[in-house]
Amino acid sequence: MSTRTNAAKWSPDSWRAKPAAQMPDYPDAKALAEVEVQLATFPPLVFAGEARNLKRALAQVAAGRAFLLQGGDCAESFAEHGANNIRDFFRLFLQMAVVLTYAAASPVVKVGRIAGQFAKPRSSPTEKRDGRELPAYRGDIVNGTDFTAAARTADPRRQLEAYRQSAATLNLLRAFATGGYANLANAHQWMLSFVKDSPQSKRYQELAGHLTEALDFMRACGIDPELHPEMRTTDFFTSHEALLLGYEQAFTRVDSTTGDWYCTSGHMLWVGDRTRQLDHAHVEFCRGIRNPLGLKTGPSQKPDELLRLIDILDPDNEPGRLTLICRMGADKVAELLPPIARAVKREGRNVVWSCDPMHGNTITSVTGYKTRPFDQILKEVRAFFQVHAAEGTYAGGVHLEMTGQNVTECTGGARAISEEDLNDRYHTVCDPRLNAEQSLDLAFLLADLLKSKRDGKAKPLPAAAGL
Ligand code: PEP
Ligand code: CO
Repeated sequence: MSTRTNAAKWSPDSWRAKPAAQMPDYPDAKALAEVEVQLATFPPLVFAGEARNLKRALAQVAAGRAFLLQGGDCAESFAEHGANNIRDFFRLFLQMAVVLTYAAASPVVKVGRIAGQFAKPRSSPTEKRDGRELPAYRGDIVNGTDFTAAARTADPRRQLEAYRQSAATLNLLRAFATGGYANLANAHQWMLSFVKDSPQSKRYQELAGHLTEALDFMRACGIDPELHPEMRTTDFFTSHEALLLGYEQAFTRVDSTTGDWYCTSGHMLWVGDRTRQLDHAHVEFCRGIRNPLGLKTGPSQKPDELLRLIDILDPDNEPGRLTLICRMGADKVAELLPPIARAVKREGRNVVWSCDPMHGNTITSVTGYKTRPFDQILKEVRAFFQVHAAEGTYAGGVHLEMTGQNVTECTGGARAISEEDLNDRYHTVCDPRLNAEQSLDLAFLLADLLKSKRDGKAKPLPAAAGL
């Protein structure tokens, strides 16, 4: 039964009456209000119709007919903004998608953590260095990374820069997605140069070779792939955590075709693991927008509380509306995920099950870097698939922190990055990301998992998924 009509009245600013965790302290309230008024006059970054298209695509994932690939930086940074970075990320993303589509014969819904992923929740509101305490860095949309009082003071004007960067990033992504770059005939050229002599590269080039043969075969049969937009272009969507609610509110607009509210700062927004309190501001804001939503689900999530959250965020049990992004940790997922999967299945809830194998596997290296062992990441993904196979639910996607750059932030992988190597190219301003090789490696593992499921080596898809 829908509770949507019974729910307390919602408005884009109704979150302001609720307690809100993880929101920055702005010393200059007047400047903040002025920026929010200005943002509200800016053009939307995305359109409601696009958000609905993504919701439809995610409904296919919920039904077990497609796979969600979501990924990007932990936090986008102003300093790393540039065309090459965006291009390399997009290339890597396309490669991973092609591996999944071709090797696993599964349509892939592509969602970047990009063009708006700036605000960060932190485990502590302050940071101490050498006896000095300053506000924690909360993402470039809020403050700066330098350990000075000036840089760490929350500055609302950064929101204007985040908007500009998001708009420029999205503009380039749209051009890449539709302007010929994503043409499947270019699959060979997506290989990043520094990955070229790795085992992943060899495997990828083989696959791209098969793809070329398949396209040639189609041509020989009289089907010109160039005439099919599916071959030349791709749908690429954006997403970020709905954390900085004043910014999100400024982009929340009524869609003229449906009369519904959409947050136009990105196609999909998610609620973080630290801001998912039932009666708090972030859940309040998200329940009223009609975008597809994600909900991070960490080890402290109790099944009954999760069901109440689902009631609030997806009262109509609308397929594609809600993606549960589970981030339990490799050593906990086998124990913590089954009760959650069972509860959601028992209630007949139509969710997308996605695995974030990053955030439950963060450790501090002996050299002092925040890192993630690649084998723990793979272990969580495998365990996630196993649990869903055993529970009769569909493992529908992954949520990754990754970059197209040749960084050394996560340990392990084919080149066996050690804790000592982290110092070489550790560029993230927040959490450690998979580099291109590690990301491709993971894509092949996923393709194998999906393929073995399709070949009947795992349990069939569930009735609850609507098949
Ligand atoms: C994140 O996705 O970067 C993040 C902070 O995740 P979580 O809310 O799951 O901790
Ligand atoms: Co992160």
